[in-house]
Amino acid sequence: MKICSTIAEARAACHAARAGGQRLGLVPTMGALHEGHLSLVRAAKAQCDAVAVSIFVNPTQFGPKEDLAKYPRPFDRDCQLLEKEGVGILFAPPAEEMYSNSNSNNQITWVLVEGLSEKLDGRSRPGHFRGVTTIVSKLFHIVEPEAAFFGQKDAAQLAVIRRMVRDLNFAVEIVGCPIVREPDGLAMSSRNAYLDQEERSRALVLQHSLQRAQQEFQAGERSAAKLISAAKEAFRREPQVKLDYFEIVDPETLDPVEQVSQKTLVAVAAYVGATRLIDNVVLEPRTEAC
Ligand code: PAF
Repeated sequence: MKICSTIAEARAACHAARAGGQRLGLVPTMGALHEGHLSLVRAAKAQCDAVAVSIFVNPTQFGPKEDLAKYPRPFDRDCQLLEKEGVGILFAPPAEEMYSNSNSNNQITWVLVEGLSEKLDGRSRPGHFRGVTTIVSKLFHIVEPEAAFFGQKDAAQLAVIRRMVRDLNFAVEIVGCPIVREPDGLAMSSRNAYLDQEERSRALVLQHSLQRAQQEFQAGERSAAKLISAAKEAFRREPQVKLDYFEIVDPETLDPVEQVSQKTLVAVAAYVGATRLIDNVVLEPRTEAC
């Protein structure tokens, strides 16, 4: 695996990987890799001739009171995992390579997906999606991948990136990959590492609330308000977990829906202790055969 820490090295390695019309896939990550990330790498390997992974803990997507400083950075372990998966290129730049200085104070050009960036996680984390779309644009310009792979767990991020690619005509296919869960159902996340034993078991409330909504839906309920009310019951039984949002929305516009009549995103975010976790499920009413 070629490890690139500068933009020039990454450009050269990616250019060589694309030689002769090879399809290059990019898996952008912030490291602290888990099975969720590795599933993206495997999808990229299956659909592309060559795979580049980026590891960059992007300062501009963290709020001033968020966990930038303590975000886990197990770089050597991440490298071993990627080597094992047969990844060809790893781009792991220091902050000053991407932003001219490590505080990103020099960045005055931003990519903003207006409106969409203020919904769901964007409402709770002002500026977060502006940071995400800016760094993802930079990565797309450097790597020039044919396809880029993102987890469905970050459903709002996926919607924002898809819209950015559409509006700015990036020549990259965005591939959303299914959520990978622990055996007990907790969605895999690098932030799960922050949870102590008690918090780890409380965190299951996110998954339980989604299951509750799904069960009601399968039993025929289509009113979003009623599904939300049933799902929130799970949080009433786990008062130590602070619900941030539980919303039923259109997966592209992220606007709330009143009735689940087509493919719909049910998304939840909650604070388990100091750790903010997210999860979601997609409901798809079966189209009646005529
Ligand atoms: O999903 C993530 O890990 C990050 O938001 C991303 C897409 C790598 C941008 O920093």
